[in-house]
Amino acid sequence: MSTAEAGIASIGLQLPPLYMPVTELAELRNVDPDKYTKGLGCLDIALCPSGHDAATLAVGAAKRALSRWDGSIEDIGLIALGTESAKDMSRPLSAWVAEELGLSGTVRSYEVKHACYGGTLALRQALEWKWSGAGAKKAALVIASDVALYSVGDPGEPTQGAGAVAMIVDRPDAAAVSPISFPFSHPAFDFWRPVGDSFPSVDGQLSLDCYKNAVSECFRALIGGRDAREVLAEYRAICFHVPFPKMVKKSVIHLGEELGWSAQEAEELYRSKVEDALEWNQLSGNAYTASLWISVARALVGLKEGAPIAAFSYGSGYGAELLQLTAGPVAASAPWVSDVEEDLRARKPVDLWGYETLRGHARASA
Ligand code: CAA
Repeated sequence: MSTAEAGIASIGLQLPPLYMPVTELAELRNVDPDKYTKGLGCLDIALCPSGHDAATLAVGAAKRALSRWDGSIEDIGLIALGTESAKDMSRPLSAWVAEELGLSGTVRSYEVKHACYGGTLALRQALEWKWSGAGAKKAALVIASDVALYSVGDPGEPTQGAGAVAMIVDRPDAAAVSPISFPFSHPAFDFWRPVGDSFPSVDGQLSLDCYKNAVSECFRALIGGRDAREVLAEYRAICFHVPFPKMVKKSVIHLGEELGWSAQEAEELYRSKVEDALEWNQLSGNAYTASLWISVARALVGLKEGAPIAAFSYGSGYGAELLQLTAGPVAASAPWVSDVEEDLRARKPVDLWGYETLRGHARASA
């Protein structure tokens, strides 16, 4: 393989062992459950028990990605972990993961932070490291992992979730990634977590506006004055960062309006190219850095080699990037489906009392 051909060789996912349907939270908060299910498009909140965190999830996802890759841990020369669930202001979360994996030596190990965009940045850096030739003889392990919790009673509470996606950057067996991407950033305080605060602060309406504006800017750059219908028709799937599923639909409708499409045409784009890829996100809830990559992993399932997909990454603050991928030969069999199936089968529901106990723990230990 030439370094210019590097892509995503292997994918592993990890969801936590607990969950709560959002309808239960609606009961607890005395809210009409339709607000959470129909208004926000949410189904379940994936939850971590005491002692599980973003590092635990990252290790699980990494072990799965490594187990179905033909290289070994000695072949990894870079581990980059995108997260906004850091355990420490100095020690990178990648160090906890590297320790568990027995990864040390001539390895670059670091954490990347840019809200939900951090995992995508870690992936781009790893790809650029390979494409530049700097990482020619080695592979990279990239992980996006987060536990998304809001303060109790916050409007964001029904959108909570957790999960991790690990990707090995080497031969493009799972997916190739185009070096050409479309970034956009604009400084804002839409969602942030000051040092020392356990939970984020959010300007809800501003965050929706920033996200939608980033969608417009990135897709406008992709379309680049060509016929938008023709450009978007090329993709088998269009994936988005998923803070909550309805946000993605709102963004597609917004993009349609910007392009001068009828509401019906935008709905059709959503139905035909976007909706199916949200299936796992509805079961995980928001997993911040991992959300987009959970959706991409779902979209790749069963695709023929060479099928193109677009992936829109958004991180508050705010920064965004629209990536172009094509399915690799392994996408047709997509072995990472078993990770999700196994975790969904094994996970246990948490009742209201259990949730309140967990949140009490989260408050005490955060
Ligand atoms: N039946 C059906 N629908 C109902 C309903 C009912 N009984 N009651 C309300 N709804 C609908 C509302 O009409 C609304 O739909 P539209 O937006 O289509 O009008 C929807 O349910 C939500 O209702 P509200 O707007 O009143 O909800 P809210 O203000 O309480 O909370 C939120 C919404 C601000 C998005 C909140 O969930 C939040 O703060 N979330 C976190 C921030 C976030 O996710 N922002 C997204 C962009 S930022 C990002 O992407 C980074 C990230 O990951 C966080």
